[in-house]
Amino acid sequence: MIRIAAIQTDPRFGDAARNLAEAAGLIRSAPADLYVLPELFATGYLFRDRDEVAELAEEFPTGVTCRFLADLSAERRAVIAGGFPERTRDGGLYNSGALFDRGRPVACYRKIHLFDNEWDWFDAGDLSPRVHPSSSGRLGPLICFDWIYPETARCLALAGAQILVHMVNLVMPYCQDAMVTRCLENRLFAVTANRIGGDRRGGREITFTGQSQITAPDGQRLARASADRAEVIVAEVDVAEADNKQINPRNDLLRGRRPGLYGQLTE
Ligand code: ACM
Repeated sequence: MIRIAAIQTDPRFGDAARNLAEAAGLIRSAPADLYVLPELFATGYLFRDRDEVAELAEEFPTGVTCRFLADLSAERRAVIAGGFPERTRDGGLYNSGALFDRGRPVACYRKIHLFDNEWDWFDAGDLSPRVHPSSSGRLGPLICFDWIYPETARCLALAGAQILVHMVNLVMPYCQDAMVTRCLENRLFAVTANRIGGDRRGGREITFTGQSQITAPDGQRLARASADRAEVIVAEVDVAEADNKQINPRNDLLRGRRPGLYGQLTE
């Protein structure tokens, strides 16, 4: 059994010191083996333009947010995942998520499916979804709008993920319900860590929906946060439950697929 936690934060745009302190306080308030923070939790979301992303972006795993995640994961002897704007040496800017396990860098995932204004700010992730073994099970990272493409979660399930590590800044109301289906149709756990509040900048305004959620392979919501408070939700789970893909004696979820008939998916 492991304890998994979604950290629901209330960041202030551009105030990394405050946002990191908020995240650390919430993490230290709840013992867990796996903590998931929201997308872009240290910077805020509503950038003015790509230049502003470039100013706030950092390299993996040496930037300030990554070092924060590394140090805290060592202190808590846990896995910690959180979103950050990633800058690469060749000028790429990605909406990324970093995973650290007890101080060690495990993965840097780049959001594949950009949402709305993100097309002006980031490059779309150029790497396939991948699963990462850790001290808290086999983890499949994805970021926010990746949820609306069931292919993302399916690829992670096929690669052996036990837990979807879902870092989000949700603005539409559908995702939490959709994650029930993502978990059911793949028989795995999901930790959806969202933020609350909003960003108001440059004549634009955006509001986030909270209601972070931990979902089980049978679609049960094991824990759900409020829509308007920074808080931690925790669930104790047996990750091995995600390895049982047998729906009944004659239906194994993954073996029952008919990929030879799914050509449209990759055309
Ligand atoms: C989103 O993908 N952050 C809505």
